[in-house]
Amino acid sequence: MQTPWWQTAVVYQIYPRSFADTDADGIGDLAGIRGRLDHLAWLGVDAIWLSPFYRSPMADFGYDVSDYCDVDPLFGTLADFDALVAEAHARDIKVIVDWVPNHTSDQHPWFQEARSSRDSPKRDWYVWREPTPDGKPPNNWVQTWTDDQPTWTLDEATGQWYLHLFLPEQPDLNWRNPEVVAAMHDVLRFWLDRGVDGFRMDVLHALGKDPDLVDDDPALLPIPHSALNHHESTYEIVRGLRGVLEEYPGDRMMVGEVFLLDTAMVASYYDGGQGLHLAFNFPPLFTRWEAGRWRHQIEEVAREIEPQGWPSWVLSNHDQVRHRTRYGTEPRARAAAVLLLGLKGTAFLYAGEELGLEDAVIPEDRVVDPGGRDGCRAPIPWTGDADHGWGVEDPWLPWPPEPEVRNAEALRADDASILHLYRRLLAERKAAPSLALGDQTLLDAPAGVLAWDRTSGGDRRRILVNFTDLPVDLGASAAAGGTWTVAVASDGVGEGEPLAATLGPDQAVVLRPA
Ligand code: NOJ
Repeated sequence: MQTPWWQTAVVYQIYPRSFADTDADGIGDLAGIRGRLDHLAWLGVDAIWLSPFYRSPMADFGYDVSDYCDVDPLFGTLADFDALVAEAHARDIKVIVDWVPNHTSDQHPWFQEARSSRDSPKRDWYVWREPTPDGKPPNNWVQTWTDDQPTWTLDEATGQWYLHLFLPEQPDLNWRNPEVVAAMHDVLRFWLDRGVDGFRMDVLHALGKDPDLVDDDPALLPIPHSALNHHESTYEIVRGLRGVLEEYPGDRMMVGEVFLLDTAMVASYYDGGQGLHLAFNFPPLFTRWEAGRWRHQIEEVAREIEPQGWPSWVLSNHDQVRHRTRYGTEPRARAAAVLLLGLKGTAFLYAGEELGLEDAVIPEDRVVDPGGRDGCRAPIPWTGDADHGWGVEDPWLPWPPEPEVRNAEALRADDASILHLYRRLLAERKAAPSLALGDQTLLDAPAGVLAWDRTSGGDRRRILVNFTDLPVDLGASAAAGGTWTVAVASDGVGEGEPLAATLGPDQAVVLRPA
């Protein structure tokens, strides 16, 4: 069997509002993405994942969809989407789109119909409950981004509560209803027919719900129910989705957001080869920059995920503070790039991390996101001009720090930049089967350093990451054994030369046999 494309892929996440703008309204669009495909081809990514660009009232910036099968006019048209897919494919870049199955917008015609009366033929497409005698919500589930708000809203007109794990503007679909399943399968087919190569599936783990709506353990509150929900019925739903993808040729892929902070639980959604092709495993994203903690995460993935399927790794996305900001310095962000791209598994990059972008500082009067995630969604600076390539100087969110120097054009002109580091790492991954799909073995290394080997047939690479900001002598550790040449160094130091006895502060290297 041939290795499916997504196994060796580096996927680049694009948040369309913030990527690139062509109509100078300060909000990115699909034509903007198309215009920057050459940047991505030059960088060497294999696929792009587009966060939602569907019709939406934007209560959750597109994760509240009012029409799954159309492009919001803010972002363009279906013709723009088709052109983007065609031009991405012409550059050998796959296209993955976001699919938001847990909830619709409250403005979606399905919900409008459902809430119109208790007898609506679509009433059961959502989750409704009678009021309790004391007028309280049906259970103690906590809404996302709040400490104490219920996941329920009373619909005054019809006198019942509806469920929403996220905002009241995002009512949850009822996946127990076969009509919902069929309608959402058709949404997948709509995009598969347009040529997409796969889907990133939003809040996938939450689709199946306990029909008894049992209270969450009060000891766990106020963790939102969306991060606790786990119900056996979800596995069957996911198998159904896989079946739809398998109606199509060409290894269409689904990667699920499984926001359960337990790697064994994440692994269960691979379902022994019948479930997800890939699942996001977020515990590493929430792990401090420390060798011991990362060693533990890598071992967890080997133990829990690998028996079920192929791992995936991610450090940043549109929901979390960027890792450049979390880890604090550019040298660490560079070492983190070597870590991410040296590990066994599909790697996900978040647009702008290749520029070493930090989160933007958002003044109080510019905050727009109900979940407080504006900082990591700042627009990408393309040039050093006042408008940074956007046609407006003040787009929908403020710029990230130092856009006059930290922009794609300036970093591309500088061979020593973090952007060129990413490019060299991606090229090395393409050139070396061991990095793209080889086995992985952790090695003994001095304190503060992680070391591992990747092997595939006769091809070998070794990766060393110094998590400390001091030089570390490799001594006689296993990490130092053998004769190696530095293929890529996070700080560029020593590339093409034999491995030195000492790793520099915050230095990470990819080694090839000398
Ligand atoms: C996860 C998405 O990544 C996030 O941006 C969104 O707000 C929630 N799901 C709800 O759809």
